[in-house]
Amino acid sequence: MVVMKSSKPPRNRGFYVKMKLIPTSTFCFRYFKWFLWLFISFYFFISFLITHKPPSSTTSLSKTTLLHHPYSKSASNALIESLNTTTIQNHPTKSFSKFNSLKIYIYNLPNKFNEDWLANKRCTNHLFASEVAIHKALLNNEDVRTLNFWDADFFFVPVYVSCNFSTVNGFPAIGHARQLLTEAVHIISSEFPFWNRSHGSDHIFVASHDYGACFHAMEDRAKADGIPEFMKNSIMLQTFGVKHYHPCQDVENVVVPPYVSPESIRKTLAKTPIDGRRDIFAFFRGKMELHPKNISGRFYSKKVRTVIWKKYGGDRRFYLKRHRFAGYQSEIVRSKFCLCPLGWAPWSPRLVESVVLGCVPVIIADGIRLPFSSAVSWAEVSLTVAESDVDKLGPILEHVMATNFTSIQRKLWDPDVRNSLLFNNPMVEGDATWHILESLSLKVNSWSIKRARLYSQ
Ligand SMILES: *[C@@H]1O[C@H](CO)[C@@H](O)[C@H](O)[C@H]1NC(C)=O
Ligand SMILES: *[C@@H]1O[C@H](CO)[C@@H](O)[C@H](O)[C@H]1NC(C)=O
Ligand SMILES: *[C@@H]1O[C@H](CO)[C@@H](O)[C@H](O)[C@H]1NC(C)=O
Ligand SMILES: *[C@@H]1O[C@H](CO)[C@@H](O)[C@H](O)[C@H]1NC(C)=O
Ligand SMILES: *[C@@H]1O[C@H](CO)[C@@H](O)[C@H](O)[C@H]1NC(C)=O
Repeated sequence: MVVMKSSKPPRNRGFYVKMKLIPTSTFCFRYFKWFLWLFISFYFFISFLITHKPPSSTTSLSKTTLLHHPYSKSASNALIESLNTTTIQNHPTKSFSKFNSLKIYIYNLPNKFNEDWLANKRCTNHLFASEVAIHKALLNNEDVRTLNFWDADFFFVPVYVSCNFSTVNGFPAIGHARQLLTEAVHIISSEFPFWNRSHGSDHIFVASHDYGACFHAMEDRAKADGIPEFMKNSIMLQTFGVKHYHPCQDVENVVVPPYVSPESIRKTLAKTPIDGRRDIFAFFRGKMELHPKNISGRFYSKKVRTVIWKKYGGDRRFYLKRHRFAGYQSEIVRSKFCLCPLGWAPWSPRLVESVVLGCVPVIIADGIRLPFSSAVSWAEVSLTVAESDVDKLGPILEHVMATNFTSIQRKLWDPDVRNSLLFNNPMVEGDATWHILESLSLKVNSWSIKRARLYSQ
């Protein structure tokens, strides 16, 4: 695979030019600043009067704090930029009401940190691709994205670490992730004041692979390596989540769904509707080893998949397949129950595919923390089977079939539930990115207070 070498000069130039402009401070510029300051105060005052709904007091507090911050000299420059954006000029009420008026600044990093990886088409479509999808959806979000970094509640650091696919087995090699992130943080912390100001605590990263912020695919190594020291204060959007203590989630985080392409789902549902015939009782396709190896003290899937295969491989109610098949979504949409056992990590893209294709997910991964649990009532739309009960799957599923299956299915088929796990571009109300923004907006107030305290130190 050829990684595109030609960087895009205009983007890079924008990044550096912006940086150079900031320290400029001329006599004339200073007067202009005061004029702007007055204008903006007047603007906020008027928008306050018009909407009768003041922006949350902590937000305005943090804005005031920012303008009095030692760096305020450069703030005016950034404000010129923001006044030129249509978001603020045309939709003031809209932008102040959504997500508690959450504002996110997206760093414009050199292409080697993100865009260059897209030369490989797989980068935007594989199960870890939420790192790309969230970035794209935020770039297109006029309500939440701010070009004025002084106005930002949070700072998004767009580094794609999961797209270095191994030529040997096709899996993402993430050995370079720490180095790439270190470089990115070096750039933003030396070129911008925001990282140092909060020690990175208002900065957001996506860590979409197996053990999230530990950046290793094997749990023992992930735990031993731990979360990079410099990221420990930041906010992680991660697919990995467990209810118990785990060193790889010992950081402020939001559990996000693994990436499944919305287009592939739409295509599947165009052929077979969600309420079509479901002739498969229980479905699973994936790795099921008869004799899993002891790899650094652990067995793949904690042997759960081995038990499933041994116990139900010959059971006609169970449609179990061990080989890859590109058309597996057409099998999910024909199934009543879809097994979602753990692999190395507890989470799997099967959970998303089952939900969006209307197959009742059977979650077999003790202690898993599911995405957006405050918005999706997982207990009502899925089944959870303990790892130790996996040999009783048959009777458990039969019992549910005879009692509450239709009520679970009806709740699962709610479009709101299915919509919540997909990343669309642009974002759609109620989709995965929308839920991430909602989770972040709930953190805004506590962060503003924390940050105000940091400034006063
Ligand atoms: C203001 O916005 C317009 C239209 O988007 C753009 O053409 C122009 O270059 C911008 N001006 C500045 C100073 O950024
Ligand atoms: C991709 O991964 C391989 C194996 O971990 C590593 O040697 C290489 O440096 C990585 N490539 C980049 C551009 O970081
Ligand atoms: C932030 O801190 C680092 C390490 O102390 C320093 O090298 C860097 O220049 C600082 N950045 C800014 C913008 O002051
Ligand atoms: C698996 O291997 C580890 C060493 O890597 C060993 O300590 C452990 O006892 C083994 N477990 C089993 C069940 O064989
Ligand atoms: C369905 O029945 C099972 C088994 O009795 C129970 O564990 C589960 O909570 C029920 N689910 C719903 C949504 O009623």
